[in-house]
Amino acid sequence: MFATVDQIKTQKFQSYVDDRGTLVPIESFPIPVARIFYIRNIPIGAERGGHGHKRCRQFLICQTGALRFVISDGVNERSFELAQEHGVLLPVGIYSTMTTIESGTVLLVLCDRPYEAEDYLRNLDEVRLFRDSNPSIANSC
Ligand code: TYD
Repeated sequence: MFATVDQIKTQKFQSYVDDRGTLVPIESFPIPVARIFYIRNIPIGAERGGHGHKRCRQFLICQTGALRFVISDGVNERSFELAQEHGVLLPVGIYSTMTTIESGTVLLVLCDRPYEAEDYLRNLDEVRLFRDSNPSIANSC
């Protein structure tokens, strides 16, 4: 079944800090990776996202800085902070927006599908329609 907003959890990665800097290894991915992109140079307060996906799952990693996410499953909305060295898996059928709350934030996004403009759910009505029309879609979150 589709995930609800309550099922979406952030995770913290272990980091190794010494006087040469910080190293953050990530050894397990919740999705097979077909594409990555990253977003940097985001002005504080600028909102990105503003869509959901029909097939593409995304594992978002805040490499540095912090973002506030607002997510919706079409019924309930939830807000959470994605802090530095934390990740979150966004399954299909979840609408999300994200706003940078620290300067210098870099967001790395791992995706299990190529970029497909037709995969986007552009607003909450499209999210609701998609979820209502595909009740048997299974996904891991
Ligand atoms: P956009 O979807 O607006 O980013 P966000 O979800 O963060 O608001 O993407 C900005 C531009 O980048 C848009 O013209 C599409 C392009 N783009 C790609 O070419 N490949 C990609 O993998 C992504 C995510 C976007």
